[in-house]
Amino acid sequence: MTDPIYPARPRPGSIDAAEYDRRYAAAARDPEGYWREAAGCLDWARPFTTVKDTSFAEADFRIRWYGDGTVNLSANCLDRHLATRGDQVAIVWEGDEPGDGARVTYRELHALVCRFANVLKDHGVRKGDRVTLYLPMIVEAAVAMLACARIGAIHSVVFGGFSPDSLANRIQDCDSRLVVTADEGCRGGKRVPLKANVDKALAHCPSVETVIVVRRTGAEVPMTEGRDVPYDAAMAAAASDCAPEPVGAEDPLFILYTSGSTGKPKGVLHTTGGYGVWAATTFRDVFDWREGDVFWCTADVGWVTGHSYVVYGPLLNGATTVMFDGVPNYPDHGRFWETIARLGVTLFYTAPTAIRALMREGDSWVERHDRSSLRLLGSVGEPINPEAWDWYHRVVGERRCPIVDTWWQTETGGILIAPLPYATDLKPGSATRPLPGVLPQLVDAEGRVLEGATEGNLVIADSWPGQMRTVWNDHARFFQTYFSTYPGKYFTGDGCRRDADGYYWITGRVDDVINVSGHRMGTAEVESALVAHAKVAEAAVVGMPHEVKGQGIYAYVTLNAGEEPSDGLRGELRQWVRSEIGPIASPDAIQFAPALPKTRSGKIMRRILRKIAEGDTGNLGDVSTLADPAVVETLVRERVG
Ligand code: WT7
Repeated sequence: MTDPIYPARPRPGSIDAAEYDRRYAAAARDPEGYWREAAGCLDWARPFTTVKDTSFAEADFRIRWYGDGTVNLSANCLDRHLATRGDQVAIVWEGDEPGDGARVTYRELHALVCRFANVLKDHGVRKGDRVTLYLPMIVEAAVAMLACARIGAIHSVVFGGFSPDSLANRIQDCDSRLVVTADEGCRGGKRVPLKANVDKALAHCPSVETVIVVRRTGAEVPMTEGRDVPYDAAMAAAASDCAPEPVGAEDPLFILYTSGSTGKPKGVLHTTGGYGVWAATTFRDVFDWREGDVFWCTADVGWVTGHSYVVYGPLLNGATTVMFDGVPNYPDHGRFWETIARLGVTLFYTAPTAIRALMREGDSWVERHDRSSLRLLGSVGEPINPEAWDWYHRVVGERRCPIVDTWWQTETGGILIAPLPYATDLKPGSATRPLPGVLPQLVDAEGRVLEGATEGNLVIADSWPGQMRTVWNDHARFFQTYFSTYPGKYFTGDGCRRDADGYYWITGRVDDVINVSGHRMGTAEVESALVAHAKVAEAAVVGMPHEVKGQGIYAYVTLNAGEEPSDGLRGELRQWVRSEIGPIASPDAIQFAPALPKTRSGKIMRRILRKIAEGDTGNLGDVSTLADPAVVETLVRERVG
């Protein structure tokens, strides 16, 4: 069966197929030259002389790009645009309630960032210090990120949906000295107690000296004397000018925690120069950004998508970027499309889970709003199923708009595999081909490189500027996680198929990570939350297919002797996981299991648990190594869902 193809329609002034081929070949032939020229997208304080200094081999492992250059990304996002676009809108803020919004020009944003940089300095934050941001999607989140970048401090944004415990772990891991939060957040008409969560977290975080509290809802929140400072008062007291501090290209820009296959989230560290080049060039080329565009990426700044394509990518290019503090289905299922019409959005970037959820509600929610401003659609976070792709293309984009399905990861800093919208023929469900400078390979379990149309594990054979540099505080774990499985290559953790046209089709994670609504969740994290409950003896968590979320969380739970399974206890365990990690980790199905299938050496056979959760019980494969095969029969019989 051949996949349907949507031929690229060239656009004057945009990269076409021949130009893509030329660039891809040039970057492969001469990475130094290619990335030297590409780095011209930034204004460097001190020009670099070295470009690429990288090796994935254990003996001389290093990843350095533009190592002797200095640059400041806040100056690149703001100061350099003032002469030409000071009065242009930089951020369109769209609140939870439709029409509750604000427009901030480049000049205004620059002034806010300078002031907040001084607030940080006034509270003792210096170059290299860590600052944790626990904020809604408000302009102040971008202000705080850019203020950190301005003085060389390292921001660590923690998604506002994470629990006090998760927040505390992330603060402790990087020893933040300052936290920026808001009184409350607003999501779909409900309040999120951000400041109260911070108060709970800080009971266990001695490193934090200062909490700056932005007023979002105006709710009364307790303020701790000597620690908590209202944002408005601090801003009013701060000086208004602040020169950007040039930092080394390899100085850290931010830490962002992400789930892995072990229980503890890892602090992905990105540095300044290479990340800036990657965010700026991928934004420009993949979204084909032009003057006058209004770009809306619906992601939260708590995820990497928000870092690279709400804040840094757009602002480095001088674009107008939308920051959305709401949800797709509030006040109704037309929210995205109503907002697109009202703001005149031209480039729209969202996740398959949102597309599927809205698709279920019917076309009329879309059709009642004018989408004629749209010229391009994007997708990110998980594979997009062809049905959802088709709906996005036909109903949302009126068959006019190319769809860029962008594959990347927190670790990659920005997009690696995606179509160029006016160059690449599209196949629904495929992220298509690598960007220039990206060398994907498929390997088998032994690491042999597979050629042609094939399927295997996705690795990247050489470094690119936007790549993460280390796991905060754990360089050994960085090497071990990404470079030891297939020596000399970066291992993505994804399985992938490549077709005869050289198109890449991501098939999903091959490690113990599941992708729930485009958010990464470590199964071990959910398991350790479950076993922390007093009634739970043991737990095993796997992914299961979920119509809207892509994958759902399926938990097998063995109770302590004397505890009785019940629906009440199911609810209690769900609530427990929500409060331990956050709502995104809440199990979709909980099966009480008298015992888990184990090998004679005591290892849980997850392969079998996955199959049962998927409902694929006819073919459980080899069960002969099980210590007690009867366990499996019980699990199959009592499967939930
Ligand atoms: C994992 C990375 C990239 C920012 C959002 C998620 C999956 C991501 C796609 C896509 C198929 C995708 C992969 C990847 N993924 N984009 N377009 N097609 N799969 O970032 O939390 O770091 O997760 O998301 O499995 O490894 P993340």
